[in-house]
Amino acid sequence: MDAVKDLNCPEELCRLDTTGMFEALEGLPAQCGQACWDLAGKVELPQIEAISNIVVTGLGGSAIGGDLLRVYTAGKMAVPVIVNRDYVLPEFVGPDTLVFAVSYSGNTEETLSAYEEARSRGASIIAVTTGGQLGELAGRDGAPLIGVPGGISPRAATGFLFIPTLRVLQKLGLLEDSVDEITEMIDFIRTLRGKLAPEAPQAENQAKQLAQKLYNRIPVIWGSTGTTEVVAQRWKGQINENAKAPAYWNVLPELNHNEIVGFQFPRELLKKLHVVILRDERDHPRVHKRIEITRGVIQDVVDGCTEVWATGEGVLSRLFSLIYTGDYTSVYLAALYGIDPGPVKVIDYLKKELRND
Ligand code: F6R
Repeated sequence: MDAVKDLNCPEELCRLDTTGMFEALEGLPAQCGQACWDLAGKVELPQIEAISNIVVTGLGGSAIGGDLLRVYTAGKMAVPVIVNRDYVLPEFVGPDTLVFAVSYSGNTEETLSAYEEARSRGASIIAVTTGGQLGELAGRDGAPLIGVPGGISPRAATGFLFIPTLRVLQKLGLLEDSVDEITEMIDFIRTLRGKLAPEAPQAENQAKQLAQKLYNRIPVIWGSTGTTEVVAQRWKGQINENAKAPAYWNVLPELNHNEIVGFQFPRELLKKLHVVILRDERDHPRVHKRIEITRGVIQDVVDGCTEVWATGEGVLSRLFSLIYTGDYTSVYLAALYGIDPGPVKVIDYLKKELRND
């Protein structure tokens, strides 16, 4: 397929997109609204006396919402949220655990296995899915189900997969109600969309500029623990799946204690790295200091180092401002590589091979 040469031509940008990835991105604010008022409003709450811990079990695009939940609730809720990306569950899972089993397709084998394990341990389960086998299992067991609309890629359904889980915790009284904050986030990203969308010219479009910088480079995305860490992971996944390109992520302060030493060799390859540092002015002051020093250590060694700052008022706006910027960057990068952002043939192949085993 021909690579898109001019990021300023909206029709050109969408030319390779056969699965409506651009459309899904455009629809993110509406998706979050539907998730908050429609999907979450219909959830039947589990009958559970006391919740000691919450586990979100899922993979890939269905797991990242769990990380958002974990980070968002960490400073607000006494009950811990653990994200499980595996066939098996941690030993502590039992009758006092609330498990969100999340699979957009409903057919991811690791999630189905974890669901069965949660059930055998007597945990309360809420399935989050468009249907598939997970939907059937939830029906069989009479487990509450958050029915997610189908037709898009799991990674484009973050609003559907994350927001209802947050609302459930609020309805269970574990968290303060944050409908206002969700509404503020939706309004905020609706405005932000105008600055990131295909129609916005490259001179004023941060996502297009970032894609250009990351083109023919290996992106290394850094966030900070507890805030932008999830976004760093999200950027990495979106670059992998949409642009079909490698990307790596890590967090501060941890990377100051290991990764930072690895910027000496091989010199020519290091010149192919472009480091993106996701920043939030609300990060710990010592982390800001660390970032300044760290930049000084790497900036002449790598191709370049670009900072992207969170914007917006509430925590959700700030998280989604960075997520939205990364999502758009990844589809523009796909256009520059001349690849359809939608299909993830290797994931499909792996799933098929495993099914036939
Ligand atoms: C595809 C994607 C993948 C899937 C993952 C799990 O868009 O993002 O990471 O999310 O393979 O599949 P589901 O979400 O159907 O459980």
